[in-house]
Amino acid sequence: MAERRTALITGASRGLGRALARELARDGWNLIINARDPDALAAVAGELGHATPVAGDVTDPGHRAALVRAVRERGGPDLLVNNAGTLGTTPLPRLADQPLDDLAAAFGVNVLAPLALVQALLPDLRERRGAILNISSDAAVEGYRTWGGYGMTKAALEQLSNVLAAEEPGLRVWWVDPGEMRTDMLRAAGEDADAAPPPEESAAALRRLITDRPPSGRYRAADLAGAR
Ligand SMILES: NC(=O)c1ccc[n+]([C@@H]2O[C@H](COP(=O)([O-])OP(=O)(O)OC[C@H]3O[C@@H](n4cnc5c(N)ncnc54)[C@H](OP(=O)(O)O)[C@@H]3O)[C@@H](O)[C@H]2O)c1
Repeated sequence: MAERRTALITGASRGLGRALARELARDGWNLIINARDPDALAAVAGELGHATPVAGDVTDPGHRAALVRAVRERGGPDLLVNNAGTLGTTPLPRLADQPLDDLAAAFGVNVLAPLALVQALLPDLRERRGAILNISSDAAVEGYRTWGGYGMTKAALEQLSNVLAAEEPGLRVWWVDPGEMRTDMLRAAGEDADAAPPPEESAAALRRLITDRPPSGRYRAADLAGAR
């Protein structure tokens, strides 16, 4: 039997992260999953099998060290999915009113924590010719009113990914706009989340990316799904 591959997925207790964890679990991956709420995370791990829940905040260096240890103990990593994210200030403010402390905290979750996990896992990922999947948003590239703070963090995550792909040609680095999804985050943004498709649709598109291993670059879940 082929050796199981191992992935770390952040923000896997609900929404897109949970849906992607379910996809990869069905494909036989070992999973290390993270979120802050330990009970919600344990429930997902129990459902998945072959999943190790490690609860904590991705902005906490001690917690990130625990994640890295868990991934290595499970024989990985072959894949790092930086999915955990925050909107920052809600209700979403115009830039004129954006509290800077909130914005700095959002950069911590959406940009600096993903980079820190990349830095910690790069030696292993290089050795295993692994992959990094960073979850972005159309807000990174569109001029939507009130989405400026969040959009800035996702734009930074995209450029981080872009440069990383150039610096690490032996790896796959994908950054993906998953499209609107019916999740707590979209609800918290004040959008009509019930009108959006479920995260399972985007997760199926991301699975395709992980399975097919196309070149590093920016992808949209809608295009990946359409290419089926
Ligand atoms: N929903 C959309 O329409 C949409 C559109 C474009 C892009 N995205 C992106 O897609 C990704 C997933 O979003 P989603 O809609 O699935 O959000 P969600 O339903 O709110 O889920 C977010 C997940 O991240 C975890 N999380 C949040 N902050 C964390 C932290 N500091 N440390 C560790 N875990 C943390 C949450 O669990 P805890 O709260 O327990 O920590 C939860 O498991 C995000 O990067 C988001 O920006 C979403």
